[in-house]
Amino acid sequence: MRDLLAALGALRERLTEIPQADQRRLQDLKTEILGRKAGALTKILAQVPKLDPEPRRAVGAAANELKREFEAALAARERALARTARASGAADLTMPGRAAWTGGLHLVTQVTGEICEIFHEMGFTRAVGPEVETERNNFTALNFPKDHPAIDAQDSFYLGGDLLLRTHTSPVQIRTMERYPPPIRVVIPGQCYRRDPFDASHSPIFEQVEGLVVDEGISFVDLKASLSAFARKFFGPTTRTRFSPSFFPFTEPSADMAASCSVCGGSGCQTCKQSGWIEILGSGMVHPAVFEACGVDPERYTGFAFGMGPQRIAMVRYGIPDIRLFFESDMRFLAQFSTP
Ligand code: DAH
Repeated sequence: MRDLLAALGALRERLTEIPQADQRRLQDLKTEILGRKAGALTKILAQVPKLDPEPRRAVGAAANELKREFEAALAARERALARTARASGAADLTMPGRAAWTGGLHLVTQVTGEICEIFHEMGFTRAVGPEVETERNNFTALNFPKDHPAIDAQDSFYLGGDLLLRTHTSPVQIRTMERYPPPIRVVIPGQCYRRDPFDASHSPIFEQVEGLVVDEGISFVDLKASLSAFARKFFGPTTRTRFSPSFFPFTEPSADMAASCSVCGGSGCQTCKQSGWIEILGSGMVHPAVFEACGVDPERYTGFAFGMGPQRIAMVRYGIPDIRLFFESDMRFLAQFSTP
């Protein structure tokens, strides 16, 4: 018992080392004295239960008291070191680390993926085509008349000869029908190019998702049902859809689809410009002239097609006021839509 009390006395001397210790020395002292296996004080405490009742009480009380003193002194020094580190601007090694940013998908990539996934669940597969197209695939085979303004060099980026940057994803309809016999059910995501100004609502580069269904007996009912089902999946189960007459050279009849505004539920707000409706896509029944251009028998087959812009859809869904935000790589904007 004498020995143990003497050992405690010697240990107590070491309390004076703590206020001078630096970060590393502090860790060493902690291990040397309070370490779970070989700490000097830990070893003394381990012997306490083996003593007779009388000395057990005395040594136990003294050892536990000293343990509290060491713990308090170590904690105080740790706080003091952290304070000076912060004040001097040096790294505070006691701070927990920051989670590393591992990157995330761009919002437009996410929305495009979501759109394609919904159609995938309805049995569509994905098709893609090149961004450099022929005038024939981009316009002529899609039944654009020769004098259509879109064909003009004022509106499209020509690359020389009859090559141009595709102005929409619709030419992939032609490529798909020329390559695969019906039945066809495809969604086609991809980048498109137009000679548009770069302002809040236009960009010369933008994304589209195209769709094409070709089979025997496909009717306008299939078009309406499929696209309405898509809108309910994408915007929520209470979403209503409205089809209004439109015109595209490659579809007849053609229809624009609007969805009831997902922000206000249709009562009118800023997002839907008080109308309660948001234009989502263009669509229509594939024009027989398009079938003929691709070698598909228009007497036997019918089909529907549609096209939409994921950027625009992301803008209305998330209240994004300016399309240019998608191109600026500003992490303050992008990180809001990606979890690390
Ligand atoms: N290609 C059209 C555009 O760029 C969008 C579109 C409308 C695609 C109707 C279609 C469709 O397939 O049926 O504006």
